[in-house]
Amino acid sequence: MALYPSYIIDISDSVLLLCCAAFLGKSDAEFYRECDNVVLVDILEDKLEVMKNKTYSTKKTWEYINRCMFDVLKNYTEQNRKFDIVSVDPWTGNLEQRIYDTDFLKIFNCTNKYLVVSASQDIFGKYNINIKQDITDMIKEKYKIDNIDCIDIIKRSDYYSETWEHTKVGGVYWVVFEKKSVI
Ligand SMILES: C[S@@+](CC[C@H](N)C(=O)[O-])C[C@H]1O[C@@H](n2cnc3c(N)ncnc32)[C@H](O)[C@@H]1O
Repeated sequence: MALYPSYIIDISDSVLLLCCAAFLGKSDAEFYRECDNVVLVDILEDKLEVMKNKTYSTKKTWEYINRCMFDVLKNYTEQNRKFDIVSVDPWTGNLEQRIYDTDFLKIFNCTNKYLVVSASQDIFGKYNINIKQDITDMIKEKYKIDNIDCIDIIKRSDYYSETWEHTKVGGVYWVVFEKKSVI
């Protein structure tokens, strides 16, 4: 059973799940199955089709978008559309580097309450961050924002594979951020 910060989920929440299809949503979408208002985004059309037709067929309200997450985020930003929870699982490929290095705000700006982002040990090593306060400080400083707290780090596996040929140690984590309201 995958580990996920399901304690943040209220079934009335609006939810945006980015990068959620490779394992048919087993590590993230599955935890939202009681929610009605869910948008799922991935570039793997065949996996999204399987999820749509089989895995979550009882939820007709779920919207599946086969498109690059950054195009989708750009549209939502232009529309000022936000979600109570945004969850993104980018640890494969170089996507997690892009998110932590340059594009974090594009995702954070689309959430009202919580942002859940995966991170491999590579990210923690690169930024020398291991504890919640370090992660909060790094994001605040790098992106010049105040209204964010890292509230949890959940280890979901011990090993991960970047290429599916070279397994790395150190694990994959869910990093949970809370958006604080600005007074
Ligand atoms: C670690 S897998 C996610 C697995 C997923 N959480 C699950 O449980 O099935 C990373 C995902 O990111 C997707 N992805 C990579 N680049 C993307 C992009 N630019 N836009 C949207 N999805 C992307 C991949 O297709 C893959 O499904």
